[in-house]
Amino acid sequence: MRHFINIKNISSKDLRKILNDAKKRKYKRKNYSSLEIDKGAPLKGKLLIQMFEKSSLRTRISFFLAIRQLGGSALTLRPDELHFSKGGEKISDTAKVISVYADAFMLRTDNDSKLDEIYKHIKIPLINGLSPSSHPSQILSDIFTIEEIKKKKISKLNICWIGDCNNVLNSLIEASVKFSFKLNIGCPKKYGPSTNILKWSKENKAKLKIFYNPKLAIKNSDVIITDKVVSMNDRVNKKKKKVHFEKFKINKQLIKLAKDNAIFLHCLPRGDEVSDDVFLGKNSKVWTQASNRVHVQKSILLYCLEKLR
Ligand code: CP
Ligand code: NVA
Repeated sequence: MRHFINIKNISSKDLRKILNDAKKRKYKRKNYSSLEIDKGAPLKGKLLIQMFEKSSLRTRISFFLAIRQLGGSALTLRPDELHFSKGGEKISDTAKVISVYADAFMLRTDNDSKLDEIYKHIKIPLINGLSPSSHPSQILSDIFTIEEIKKKKISKLNICWIGDCNNVLNSLIEASVKFSFKLNIGCPKKYGPSTNILKWSKENKAKLKIFYNPKLAIKNSDVIITDKVVSMNDRVNKKKKKVHFEKFKINKQLIKLAKDNAIFLHCLPRGDEVSDDVFLGKNSKVWTQASNRVHVQKSILLYCLEKLR
């Protein structure tokens, strides 16, 4: 049994194995419809319970499709339907009960300590479907998308993140170490990466450069990634924060400084951090990015349930 909680805790070899499996499975499904089951139904009879403490469109649907396409089933829960998080039941008890009913548990939480507490007590694989500090399934899937479109290993590409230094970026930084790629970050000085992630990236020799000028960050990039300025867990004055990011908006002028064939990615949902013409323009690969979540998460489930070929 294996968990999928953070990219930094998974070996580069296993992460690569997940991506290779996703590539093969995606190819084999070319003419399949959404709920057609992969040959061999490798997760036949398995149940994934997924619970969302925060809103979700993509993660919810893509994990549902992932388990179904592998021959298993999903049950999606909302915390307000349970005793969880209202004080009626200890998190440790919830974790143990879920373990007796299901084969894997995916949690999107509003608090990293809940993920830690579940991890301590759960007896089945635990998958992090976004926490305030990370979004590992998103980033692993984005690496798949980048390599698929660029037809190159990510280690041969210049990756650039422009925007808020949030949970998605933390996972990207972890991935930059595991997959050994160069990562430029463009952000306002006041909103740089957290001390924790900077310490970790230093200790692990991340090829990270931070720029407080978006034009310098984006220069010569193959891939530009961004995310909302205000995340679901951000307890800030939204208006004030957004002012600091005005110069960091990804628009046509800014993206011209990247390589001609650069691609633009955004995990969605979006806000004001990108102009419509870039988001919907020729560089944008956001729909492929969203659809690839299914393929990569299937291989994450197989990894967790020790069924990866
Ligand atoms: N990108 C992503 O995780 O989207 P949702 O919040 O809709 O799941
Ligand atoms: N950083 C965003 C990602 C949403 C998928 C958030 O946490 O709200």
